[in-house]
Amino acid sequence: MSAVQEQVHLSRSEVCGIMREELYSEEDFQQTQTHIFIVVGASGDLAKKKIYPTLWWLYNDGLLPEDTYIVGFARSKLNVQDIRKQSEAYFKVSHNDAQKLDTFFKRNSYVSGQYSDEASFKALNKHLEALPNGAKANRLFYLAVPPSVYLDVTRNIRMTCMSTIGWNRVIVEKPFGKDLESSNKLSEHISSLYQENQIYRIDHYLGKEMVQNLMVLRFGNRIFGPLWNRDHIASVVLTFKEPFGTQGRGGYFDEFGIIRDVMQNHLLQMMCLVAMEKPVSTNSDDVRDEKVKVLKCVPELTLDNIVLGQYVGNPEGQGDAQKGYLDDPTVPKGSHTPTFATAALYVKNERWDGVPFIMRCGKALNERKAEVRLQFREVPGDIFQGQCKRNELVIRVQPDEAVYTKMMTKKPGMFFNPEESELDLTYGNRYKDVKLPDAYERLILDVFCGSQMHFVRSDELKEAWRIFTPILHQLEKEKIKPLPYKYGSRGPAEGDEFIQKVGFRYEGTYKWVNPNKL
Ligand code: NDP
Ligand code: BG6
Repeated sequence: MSAVQEQVHLSRSEVCGIMREELYSEEDFQQTQTHIFIVVGASGDLAKKKIYPTLWWLYNDGLLPEDTYIVGFARSKLNVQDIRKQSEAYFKVSHNDAQKLDTFFKRNSYVSGQYSDEASFKALNKHLEALPNGAKANRLFYLAVPPSVYLDVTRNIRMTCMSTIGWNRVIVEKPFGKDLESSNKLSEHISSLYQENQIYRIDHYLGKEMVQNLMVLRFGNRIFGPLWNRDHIASVVLTFKEPFGTQGRGGYFDEFGIIRDVMQNHLLQMMCLVAMEKPVSTNSDDVRDEKVKVLKCVPELTLDNIVLGQYVGNPEGQGDAQKGYLDDPTVPKGSHTPTFATAALYVKNERWDGVPFIMRCGKALNERKAEVRLQFREVPGDIFQGQCKRNELVIRVQPDEAVYTKMMTKKPGMFFNPEESELDLTYGNRYKDVKLPDAYERLILDVFCGSQMHFVRSDELKEAWRIFTPILHQLEKEKIKPLPYKYGSRGPAEGDEFIQKVGFRYEGTYKWVNPNKL
């Protein structure tokens, strides 16, 4: 395990105790010590809310290479002051940091230009070269731009902005295409310009603490290994729920829908980490090799294995909750785009044949939650007159990270009957005062360090689109109407019926007592 991954277990102050040099390999420093981080699309929403705040946190924690410059590039005619004004609200700065913040922004600059215009990128390159040691610097390009300009931007960077002495890495945000064909086209274009080891395709779920923990839980413990298969596991449920709707982003969302937005990437990536075989090592390609193998065993998703929903306003709700998806003025009238989906995928291999991997995701639901739930089979030869419920192992990704096992125990006291209880590893209790880094912090740091383990490789992407493209095309061609569900509900009742039908059992008897509230 590299120092970068180890630091995940440390508190923020401990993380900062790690020497910056310990995070980076010799190779990263051998040619040059200057790094330039170029935010392409610096005026946009992602840059403002995520990229600049993340760079600041890394800088403030002393985790960026010392001699790092940040250069924004976008069409808008802005300056560093404007960038500061629009992003600082997301920085979480304390009074003590004020001076450091000024120093951070002194390392920033901004160039305005057109994405399709080679001359604009030549001007950007001139600017990069004019920075101290700029000609020799390692360069990281973060593409925080809409997919419509990916082709131009990647080509112009390649043609005009590559460092010839330091290394170059390009970070690409989803969506990577809209289906297999468009994704392949984009991949072919990008791979004609860059080597695979220069391309970092971000799926930010791979940067989350508990998603990264899946590998450690599975392969660092003896107790789970023998049970992790079709003989013991009845179903696996991967859940993503958000309690708000499209919040005015309906125009963007409507082009993609919940399958492309969450299921085909975030949930599928988590599924791979649950289902894959043990990799040969924690080397990036060994891990990604195993993920690809899982995907290759997954047949295409079919219509009989999915339930789709679209939220409608709840007349009894407050504020936004009264409005349905179609009430969003940016959503085309009569749109059939799903905002909710529950689907079952199967992994046709020796370990998992017949076990449903149930993916559930939706907007405007009853709570915010992302989790992985493994439901075990019943105890065979039950001697407790059916009182024993199926065990579950739950890895809660957010909010309030936790790992818990739902299990039967003897009801305490003068009883001899089983009762539902849990083994509970709640991070907030076990790791008090530990500040877990944000997913983007980890991932951007990984790019500086050259670790691709938590990034999506092109063959993974191809397989992911293979699984989902036929159903996406069918839904669009046949204009299949999603089922309505009320804003703030659990989604359409048919979703719950479906998961019971394919093999998940909900008893409704488990009651959790939060020890902090006793
Ligand atoms: P539950 O038995 O309440 O739920 C188990 C599963 O059944 C969930 O996937 C849930 O989905 C699903 N479900 C709920 N209602 C229905 C329904 N009507 N039909 C079909 N499926 C349904 O157990 P949980 O593990 O969710 O635990 C209950 C609560 O206790 C949770 O809030 C949990 O976070 C908390 N808890 C917290 C712990 C901790 O902090 N360490 C430890 C143990 C429990 P859905 O997710 O959609 O509700
Ligand atoms: C993004 C989706 O990838 O993930 C958004 O496009 C979604 O629709 C977001 O809201 C959720 O991320 P997180 O980290 O808040 O769970």
